[in-house]
Amino acid sequence: MAVRHFLTLLDLDPLEAQALIDRAIHLKRQHKIGDVIYEPLKNKVLGMVFEKSSTRTRVSFETGMAHFGGQAIFLSPRDTQLGRGEPIEDSARVLSRMVDIIMIRTFEHEKIERFAEYSQVPVINALTDSYHPCQLLADIQTYVEHRGSIAGKTVTYIGDGNNMCHSYINAARLFDFKLRVACPQGYAPDAEIVAPAADRVEVLRDPLTASEGADLVVTDVWASMGQEDESAGRARAFDNYQVNAEVMAQANDDALFMHCLPAHRGEEVTADVIDGPQSVVWDEAENRLHAQKALLEFLMR
Ligand code: CP
Ligand code: NVA
Repeated sequence: MAVRHFLTLLDLDPLEAQALIDRAIHLKRQHKIGDVIYEPLKNKVLGMVFEKSSTRTRVSFETGMAHFGGQAIFLSPRDTQLGRGEPIEDSARVLSRMVDIIMIRTFEHEKIERFAEYSQVPVINALTDSYHPCQLLADIQTYVEHRGSIAGKTVTYIGDGNNMCHSYINAARLFDFKLRVACPQGYAPDAEIVAPAADRVEVLRDPLTASEGADLVVTDVWASMGQEDESAGRARAFDNYQVNAEVMAQANDDALFMHCLPAHRGEEVTADVIDGPQSVVWDEAENRLHAQKALLEFLMR
């Protein structure tokens, strides 16, 4: 059977995606009760390649493997040959002969596609410049836990048309919700990613219009990892794209707020929103663990 990778959400079909969310909720419950030792990945090893920083992704994958009876190896370009220019194809061939599954956080999405092409084992996208699909599994799980099915709901994404925005666009297709994106001119999501989702996704300019009647409001940083040099220009461009009380007042009364974190209070979100009653960011962060356990189990089956 062909190896299954998880490079974008669209590597899952809608039924698989729904089952994975249900499974994540179940694994979370089982873990909290704590009376069952479930080690489906005993003696299995996850290789974790990080070319960018991480707190949540690293800790959730390592902890997930420990819960499942397996192990994880942290690989940074600083101290592997990947950082000294060993070709990605060679690294993929070698690593995948040793470990059982690999996750990668890198820059160009094309790099992870090339790695997956040469890997004998499943490859998971732990964030590229274009997508962050693992985060979306956690976000959908969090929505479902708080409000039930997200199908037919309205989600508003305010900010940069970046990796998170692209994954929200894919999620709208997979989980069948409406997505309104509000972004400044010049920072819109990739038109090639928007086009196949055109029946569900609207790209607007005004954050207040975009958040009218929303069931979920989401934002992300204005300057992503690798864009540090653009921070000042981006701060100016995104000045009107802050999720604050005024934006939340446009949304439904029971709307939730999410942010993949790390967050910058006073920039893309105000403290009263992220630390307020509609925010579910801590559940969202925790669910990285449970959703990725479900993903590891699914890909290793
Ligand atoms: N949300 C997220 O991916 O966090 P980290 O960068 O800390 O892994
Ligand atoms: N868009 C952000 C997400 C961080 C989890 C970045 O790529 O830095």
